[in-house]
Order: sequence, then structure tokens, then C-alpha cells
Amino acid sequence: MGCGKGLTSVFLAKEYGITVFANDLWVDATENLRRFEQEGVADKVYPIHAEAHALPYANGFFDAVIAIDSYNYFGACENYLPDVFSKLVKPGGQLGFVHPGLKREYPKGYPDSLEGVWIPEMFNWHSKDWWAHLWGKTGLCKITACYDINDAKPLWRAWADWSLEHFEEEWGEPGDVDTKLLDADTNDDLTIVVMAATKK
Ligand SMILES: C[S@@+](CC[C@H](N)C(=O)[O-])C[C@H]1O[C@@H](n2cnc3c(N)ncnc32)[C@H](O)[C@@H]1O
Repeated sequence: MGCGKGLTSVFLAKEYGITVFANDLWVDATENLRRFEQEGVADKVYPIHAEAHALPYANGFFDAVIAIDSYNYFGACENYLPDVFSKLVKPGGQLGFVHPGLKREYPKGYPDSLEGVWIPEMFNWHSKDWWAHLWGKTGLCKITACYDINDAKPLWRAWADWSLEHFEEEWGEPGDVDTKLLDADTNDDLTIVVMAATKK
């Protein structure tokens, strides 16, 4: 879900030989198909263009559903797991995400150190405990992993450095957002949250 240009989808197909429905909103499915063909995985990775609340899949169709750097865009509301995400997988199937977040929650949504660099779309960035509560209270799944990635910020910095040089030419928007964030994060509040669960 939210596969973007499908790098993770290609990785999963190549490394694990699995079939992937690579679903995204902003990236064109035909463009992704060309990429999957070039990577030699077009027989395993199917590009789908669909909004996360209007998906074309049957309930219980998938063994697993994952969202890398995307679940926060559509999944930070109470209803998304019960109404959509959990329905995609069969009982015993796996659900998971990895995305940016904070090490803890703050009353105004972000720490003082990030004043000035925080932008409204980041209000869906939360702590691992916040996410565990969002999913846990539904009773729909058993959480099997929930942690902050070790050394998240050096990994994030690599993306920030790439963005500084290439993001604007690729996406037409300023590419310095992540650099400014990481530079401002003097208290190390930023992290990358991992969560996985099994559907009951
Ligand atoms: C930051 S990109 C991450 C892309 C990719 N997973 C990666 O790690 O490179 C976020 C992706 O989420 C997708 N996305 C955001 N909102 C969405 C929505 N409502 N429905 C489906 N996909 C969505 C966007 O299309 C975008 O490609």
C-alpha cells in the first residue's frame, strides 16, 4: 500500500519470490509497470492505481499487507484499520508498516525543537505507543512488533541528502524539508516506527 515507485515491491518479489499488488495513488501504474518490466519482475508485481479508501480488492484476498513510508498518510484515523486495512488480509494474515514518527507524543503535536520546520502534513506522525494503541484497542489483530528502528536518523539522513540534490527536479517541490527537520532535531525526537501484527 502506497508503494510509490515500487522499490519495496521489486525487492519483495526478487528476494522472496512473492506476488505483490503494488498499490499507489500518486505514481502512475503504467510508469510502474515499465519499471517492473525493466527489473524483470512484471510477472510477479502488479501495478495498481487506487486510493487507499477505494480499493478494488476482495476482503481476505491477501496473506499480508504492508505500507512503507505511507501508512501515516491514510491510516492515522480510527476507522482505517477496522474498515479497510485489516479486511484486506485473511485471518492469520500479517499487517505492517514502517514510517517516520516521534519517540513520544507532545501536547501540541511536536516538540519545541521542531517549531518552524514542522508542517501540517506531519500531524500524522506519531509515536510507536500511539500506533500500538490505535491498532491494539480494536481487538482485530495481535501486535507482534512495535519499535523504533535503530539508528533511524543516519538512514533518514541518506534520504535527506538525496532529496537536497534530486527531489525538486523529480517531484517539483522543495527538496530541503527533511534536511531542515533533521538539523532541527537536536533532542533526537524523530524516529522511524515499525509495527507488525497478525489478524485474529
Ligand atoms: C513517501 S511516499 C513512499 C513511497 C514508497 N513506499 C517508498 O517507500 O518509496 C508515500 C506514498 O504514499 C502514497 N499515498 C499517499 N496517500 C495515499 C492514499 N490516500 N492512497 C494510496 N496511496 C497513497 C503516495 O502515492 C506515495 O507514493
